[in-house]
Amino acid sequence: MIKITYVTADGTEQPVEVEPGMSLMEVATLRGIEGIVAECGGGCSCATCHVYVDEAWQQTFEEPAPEEADLIEFLDEAKPTSRLSCQLVLRAEHDGLCVRTPASQG
Ligand code: FES
Repeated sequence: MIKITYVTADGTEQPVEVEPGMSLMEVATLRGIEGIVAECGGGCSCATCHVYVDEAWQQTFEEPAPEEADLIEFLDEAKPTSRLSCQLVLRAEHDGLCVRTPASQG
């Protein structure tokens, strides 16, 4: 099991423990995490699963595919640390990961 913490824009921490293998979005929707909407169900077309991944953790994930990068580019709250959580598959090395969600996603 690995521990992941989702932090909403107001600073509320939502820690969960999960088996590796699912995406950050799948974990969030299964556990009722506030701030991950995921309207398209992981199809990389809605961008409502937007998260901020701290610099130190960025390199532990694959580089964004062109379709993910294109969606992020048009988000009002995009930052250099922006990713779409449906594209981020959790592995054992992600134990302790903390991601933040933008204010627009509650
Ligand atoms: S769930 Fe729609 S882009 Fe990630």
